[in-house]
Amino acid sequence: MQKNPFLAVINNEQTQRPPIWMMRQAGRVLPRYRKLTQVTPFRKIMANPKLAAEVTLMPIEDVGMDAAILFSDILVVPEALGVKVDWTSEGPSFPTPLLSMERPADSLHFELNDLNHVAETLDEIQRQKSPETPVIGFCGGILTCLCYMLGGRDKSMQFTDVVRYLYTNREEATLILEKLTSATESYVHLQAAHGINAFQIFESFAGTISVELYSSIIMPYIRRITAAARSHGLPVIFFPKGFGVGIKTLTKEDCDFVSIDWHTPIVEARKMIDPELGLQGNLEPRLLFASKKDIEKQLKTYIPFFRENPKWIFNLGHGLLKDTPLENVQFVTEWVKNTDWQ
Ligand code: CP3
Repeated sequence: MQKNPFLAVINNEQTQRPPIWMMRQAGRVLPRYRKLTQVTPFRKIMANPKLAAEVTLMPIEDVGMDAAILFSDILVVPEALGVKVDWTSEGPSFPTPLLSMERPADSLHFELNDLNHVAETLDEIQRQKSPETPVIGFCGGILTCLCYMLGGRDKSMQFTDVVRYLYTNREEATLILEKLTSATESYVHLQAAHGINAFQIFESFAGTISVELYSSIIMPYIRRITAAARSHGLPVIFFPKGFGVGIKTLTKEDCDFVSIDWHTPIVEARKMIDPELGLQGNLEPRLLFASKKDIEKQLKTYIPFFRENPKWIFNLGHGLLKDTPLENVQFVTEWVKNTDWQ
């Protein structure tokens, strides 16, 4: 039997075709998951290792993805630091964002025990999965978590007050960033100790600040997370959404793979990024609402790309959207797996 293509690519081996998985594949579009959430809300599924493991493996069983991603959320680390998160039907809500406090860093106390359920979920995944299925662990990017912790939910997604805070309260912001990074490092070690094969950092809000500011005050913390994962031999995939030409600055110290967002054509991204780094991405998730003919037209453009760039993991340019037709998710997956890429 051929080795799992995701494992092959992260180990720098040649494959006949690119591996495929999709960000936010666990849950969302899957009928079995939708059915489960009718009786058990998201937060309860996440906290229940048996159910969380089942949801983690649904995209493998029901769609045929090449890798599973832990079913959890990036906000479990802020929660374990003491930031209150209410999970509503519209997503997370923050009753007491840190911006409203005088000395917010003092309110943060990390409880690693609050994340025990993730360790148990990963153990349960190991028991339930077939041996060749890789599991991806993850955390939120340091800026993305900081935005939620300080500003709460911002419908505009600009986080202007948070960015302003970074310029006006740098000392306090640094204290928060330090605590958040130490907590995230511990979280990486916890996941690594429970059998993950790769680690992804979801920096969904990289584009809310300038490249210069990101590189100077956030990237050093990202490197610490990467180093923590690498200390266990894990490859790191970094998804800095909206980072734009900032991807030119990324080096081997930052990550092993860069996950490209849908804004940037992947061919252009390849020209900008250090040749030592692999790529992941970047099908526009909203294209999945289009006709199969239009989807296929876009998919075909990846064939010449793969021939020149075999160190590539097929994925979306951001997470799957809730109402995406499952049929089209299956179409893309089958297409990637059955096309002659040579
Ligand atoms: O990729 C996966 O399927 C694994 C699990 C996963 C979830 N969230 C489950 C989830 C992952 C990797 C995340 C990451 C995450 N969470 C990000 C970064 C990626 C991105 O999409 O930008 C962010 C910003 C969050 C915070 C968050 N969690 C929001 C804003 C929301 C509500 C709106 C939304 O996007 O759904 C959540 C809720 C959430 N996280 C759900 C799930 C399955 C519940 C919604 C559902 O049932 O589909």
